[in-house]
Amino acid sequence: MSEENCKYKRILVTSALPYANGPIHIGHLAGVYVPSDIYVRYQRLKHRDVLHICGSDEHGVAITMKARKEGVTPQDIIDKYHELNKKAFEDFGISFDIYSRTSSQVHTETSQEIFKTLYNKGVFVEKTSKQYYDEEAKQFLADRYITGTCPHCGNPNAYGDQCEKCGTSLDPTDLIDPKSAISGSQLVLKETKHWYMPLEKYQEFLEKWILQDHKNWKVNVYGQCKSWLDQGLQPRAVSRDLDWGIPVPVEGADGKVLYVWFDAPIGYISFTKQLTPEWEKYWKSDECKLVHFIGKDNIVFHCIVFPSILKAEGSYILPDNVPANEFLNLESDKISTSRNWAVWLHEYNEDFPNKQDVLRYVLTANAPETKDNDFSWKDFQQRNNSELVAVLGNFVNRTLLLTDKYFDGYVPQPGELSSADKEALEEIVKIKQEVEKSIENYRFREALNNAMGLGRLGNKYITEQEPWKVIKTDKERVKTILYVNLQITAAISTVLEPFIPFSMKKLREFLNLDNLIDWDTISSAEILKPQHKLNKSSLLFEPITDEIVQAQIDKLNRTKVENQKKEFQPKAQKTLISFDDFQKCDIRTATILEAEKVAKTNKLLKLTVDTGIDKRTLVSGIAEHYDPKDIVGRKILMIVNLEPRKIKGIESKGMILCAEGSDGSLHFLNPDSELENGCQIG
Ligand code: 2FM
Ligand code: ZN
Repeated sequence: MSEENCKYKRILVTSALPYANGPIHIGHLAGVYVPSDIYVRYQRLKHRDVLHICGSDEHGVAITMKARKEGVTPQDIIDKYHELNKKAFEDFGISFDIYSRTSSQVHTETSQEIFKTLYNKGVFVEKTSKQYYDEEAKQFLADRYITGTCPHCGNPNAYGDQCEKCGTSLDPTDLIDPKSAISGSQLVLKETKHWYMPLEKYQEFLEKWILQDHKNWKVNVYGQCKSWLDQGLQPRAVSRDLDWGIPVPVEGADGKVLYVWFDAPIGYISFTKQLTPEWEKYWKSDECKLVHFIGKDNIVFHCIVFPSILKAEGSYILPDNVPANEFLNLESDKISTSRNWAVWLHEYNEDFPNKQDVLRYVLTANAPETKDNDFSWKDFQQRNNSELVAVLGNFVNRTLLLTDKYFDGYVPQPGELSSADKEALEEIVKIKQEVEKSIENYRFREALNNAMGLGRLGNKYITEQEPWKVIKTDKERVKTILYVNLQITAAISTVLEPFIPFSMKKLREFLNLDNLIDWDTISSAEILKPQHKLNKSSLLFEPITDEIVQAQIDKLNRTKVENQKKEFQPKAQKTLISFDDFQKCDIRTATILEAEKVAKTNKLLKLTVDTGIDKRTLVSGIAEHYDPKDIVGRKILMIVNLEPRKIKGIESKGMILCAEGSDGSLHFLNPDSELENGCQIG
C-alpha cells in the first residue's frame, strides 16, 4: 500500500450520475465508468473497504426537454432510461454497489435537509433578478430551455447554461439573441427570486485546498480549477423556476425547485445512505478517501460548487481526488446523442454478447486520459485480434493445452529453477507492483499496458523455453517450464481481473480456482500449487472478423446519411439572370450509349451519348456515383451547347445535368415519360 493510502481505512468511489434521458454510450464508459470500475475492482482484490456509488440523475431540464420532445411525461422518461441504463451497466460488468435514483424519497429528504442547513446558517444570498420568461409558454426559462448565440465562439445553438461547441459555461443573459427552446419565441426579462450560493466567499478556501494542497490532481482537472479560480468565482443560483425537481424546502418558495446541480451530487450521499446504515463511516470520517470519477464537463461542479456546499454544511469530507477524463470521439467525429452518433451500450451488449471485455479493453487501452481520443471499429478489431487473441489468449491457451497434454491437467512439480525461471517468476511480482502503482495514480491506460506485460512475459518465456521440443528429451524440465507458465497464468487471472473481469472469470474456471486470488498473493511466487488439477479449457478470446466490424461501420454510415439529410441546408440562391440568358442554354433529352472509366482517374467517366442531333462524346465526373455498366441506355438531360473542353485529353462536348444530394451524391434527372432524344427543355 502506498504511504498516502495508509491514512485511509475506507474508500468511497462515486461515478457521475448519468441523466436518465438517454442511453449510455462509449463516451460515458471511457470517460467515467470503465476507469471507476477498474479502480474499485482492484481495491476489492486488495481487500480494502470500498464502496462504488452511482445512479440516475433524474431532475433538471435535460429530462423535461426530452419528455417534451417525445410527448410523454418526465416520469415516463426517467423510468424508461433508469431501467435501460441500470441493466446495460450490469450486463457490461460495471460493479456498482448501488445504482439508485435521484427521484427516490431518501434523496429528496437528504437534499432538502442539506439545503435547509445552509439556509438556516445564513449561507445563501436571496436575490431578486430579471430572468428570461417565455410569454407563450407562460414560464420562466433556464439553462437548456434557452438557446442563442455563444458570445465566445459564435455557435448559434448554444444553451443557456453552456456552449457545447467551445465548452464555456454560460448564463442565459450572456447569450446573443436568446430564444425559447420550447416555443422558439423571443424572451422577455421578468423579475423572480432565487437563492444563490456565494462561491466568492469560498474562493480563498478553494485556492488553498486545490491549488496548494492538491497539486497531485490530473493536469486537466487542476488546470480547469485554476482557470475558474483565476477568473474569480461568482454567486451561483441553486434554485430554479420549474415544475420538475425537488421543491425548495422553505417558505415563500412556491413553484421553485432545487437546481439539478445542487441535488445531483448529493445523490452520492443519499445513495450511500440507501446502501448502508453505516454511511457516516464513509461520508463523515477523515479515515475515508472520497474519489469522484467524472467527465471533463463536470469538473467545476465536483471541484468547486459541490465542495463549497459540503464545506458550508460542515460535517462531510471532501474529495481526495477527482480523476476526470477528456472526451472520446467516434470515427473522428464528436459523439452526439441528438445526432445518434454513438455506440450505445445496450446495443453493443446485444450485438456482442460475451464480448464485453473486448470493449472494456479497447476503451482502456485508448482512454482519453490526457486528451480527447478517437474510437474506431478498425482499431477495436485490431486490438482484439493482435493483443487479446494473439498475445494474451495465445499464451494462456498454449499453457493450458500443453499442461493437459503432457501432465493430464495437473500442475507439475517443478525441479531446480534455472536463472530464466527465477527471472520470469520475479518479473511477475514486478509487473504486479507496476500495475498497482499506475492504478493508485489513476493512470489506467498505463496500468493495462503494464498488466499486458504478463502476457508478453509468458509468450517470451514459452517461446524461448520451447517445451514442445524439450518434451522429446527431458520431460522433467518441461514440468518446471509449465509450472512457471502456470504461475504467470494464475497471476494474469488476478492482475487483469479489474480490466477484463468476464474473461478472467473464465480463466479461473479453466484453472479450477473457485475464488478470486487476493491481489497480494501475487507477491509470493507460488500461486498454483503442484498437483492442483486444472479443468478443461477453451479459447479465451476469439478473432473478430471483417464482416462483424463492417456491419458496425455500415450502421454508422447509415446514421451519417440520415444526419446529412436532416441537417441539409440548401445553398443560397444564385444571382438573378435574364430570360434571355436562360434561353441561351440548350438543354435536351439524350440517351447514354456507352460508358467507361477514364484511365488513371477516380471520378471521371467517358460517355457516348445520343443527343438526337448527333452522337457525341463527353466526360462527366460521376464515376463515384454510377457504375458504367448500369447506365448504358439511361435517359438523361444535358446541355448540348456548352463550349467543348478537353478533359484528360478527351474532347467533352456538353454536360449532363445532375442534382447533388445532401451527402454529396450525384443523381441524373429523368423526364417523367418516355421521350425521344433531342427534345428541348425550356
Ligand atoms: O453531466 C451529467 O450527465 C450529469 N448528470 C452528471 C451529474 S454527476 C453528479 F453530480 F451527480
Ligand atoms: Zn461557444
